[in-house]
Amino acid sequence: MSETAKLTYAGQTYELPIIEGSEGERAVDISRLRADTGLITLDIGYGNTGSCTSTITFMNGEEGILRYRGIPVEQLAEHSSFVETAYLLIHGELPNQKELNRFSILLNDASLVHEDLKIFYSNFPRLSHPMGILSSMVNALRSFYPELQTLEEEIDMTVTRLLSKVRTMAAMSYKMSRGHTVVYPRPDLSYCANFLNMMFDSPVRPYEVDDVLAEALNIFWILHADHEQNCSTSAVRMVGSGRVNLYAAISAGIAALWGPLHGGANQSVVEMLQDIDASGRGFQHYVDRAKDRNDPFRLMGFGHRVYKAYDPRAKIIKAMCDRVLAKLKISDPLLDLAKELEAVALKDAYFIDHNLYPNVDFYSGIILRAMGIPTNMFTVMFAIGRLPGWIAQWKESMDDPNWRLCRPRQIYTGPRETNYVPIEERP
Ligand code: ACO
Repeated sequence: MSETAKLTYAGQTYELPIIEGSEGERAVDISRLRADTGLITLDIGYGNTGSCTSTITFMNGEEGILRYRGIPVEQLAEHSSFVETAYLLIHGELPNQKELNRFSILLNDASLVHEDLKIFYSNFPRLSHPMGILSSMVNALRSFYPELQTLEEEIDMTVTRLLSKVRTMAAMSYKMSRGHTVVYPRPDLSYCANFLNMMFDSPVRPYEVDDVLAEALNIFWILHADHEQNCSTSAVRMVGSGRVNLYAAISAGIAALWGPLHGGANQSVVEMLQDIDASGRGFQHYVDRAKDRNDPFRLMGFGHRVYKAYDPRAKIIKAMCDRVLAKLKISDPLLDLAKELEAVALKDAYFIDHNLYPNVDFYSGIILRAMGIPTNMFTVMFAIGRLPGWIAQWKESMDDPNWRLCRPRQIYTGPRETNYVPIEERP
């Protein structure tokens, strides 16, 4: 046996194998712990638990590093397209020209959705949140497009269907929520431009896709494409481990992403900035509230479970915000407010001591606003970007011969055995 850790318990010493990743990350393998010692481990919120080994994404929170399949996200944001990055994540390496062409053709071919889906959309109550709609509709896709899972080529078909149709469905839900005519996908447009066109084109006001916005969306989606074992990805893997179909697993991921502590933070950040602006009380009041343990208020868009340095994605998005607003000659008071709030927080001892830096969601809402995306659609934009990551992680888990049904244990702290009391004898 190579290197081990020793655990002494009840007078006996047990040797636990050490597993080392390709970037030198180390873990104690406790998979035999209960069988050998009767003990389990307790790690609420899984902050210290590796749930799998993975070859997809590497992140180092202390140094602010994020790489997909080894390639720094900064390089992908500068040189790649979202479609190429999706291929990289799902297939493990960058495509050659022929592979990329084939992938793009498959995406175009799969971009239409079944017309009957419109009936579902039109029956959601008007105020339904788009994330709830998207999660339900992705689950419903399974009934329209049965999953084929026998050959690699057939899996490709399901995967491209999801990547392409979710984008169409997101735009469609926006149009239908406004009572507008649905705009169909156009094969002559790139993945990002096509989405913007489906969102904003209309018979009375034809939409001209702005290259800067299409480029900004491309970078936004690349930066969101994967983030290893976060809450929604873990949900996809966990739900998928029961061998449910891919649509259902992705639907679970969308539901998990919706939460304001996770992907829903991009919506919460803009709402928080609007509240701060409208209150006229200045940021210090909010910074003080965020520091108060007795106040549930937190600065949305600050802090991260893994990053204890500046989130590398936030750096790129912040720079992109400036570029987009300057090019479009838009002045957004919320961007100025965000920058001032960041400056105040980063100088504050509490934020420094707690390693609280802006995360990806802090500035992303400003870019989405500049594109004209309504605030309640922000998390849907995140979900479209995260699809390749969820799919890659699901695929990896399905191909892993050691992958098992996810079934954590617990330490029970409820009542000891107690007898049933008939209702007439209860106090
Ligand atoms: N504002 C003020 N204090 C904060 C914040 C914040 N945004 N985030 C963490 N803290 C404080 C906590 O109060 C706690 O303080 P204490 O140790 O003195 O009690 C300490 O920092 C650690 O916080 P935890 O909640 O234990 O850290 P955890 O890793 O569980 O939380 C999380 C990470 C949920 C992202 C948290 O930082 C947060 O709520 N941020 C705001 C929501 C947000 O922006 N979420 C998006 C994250 S990125 C993404 O998922 C895409």
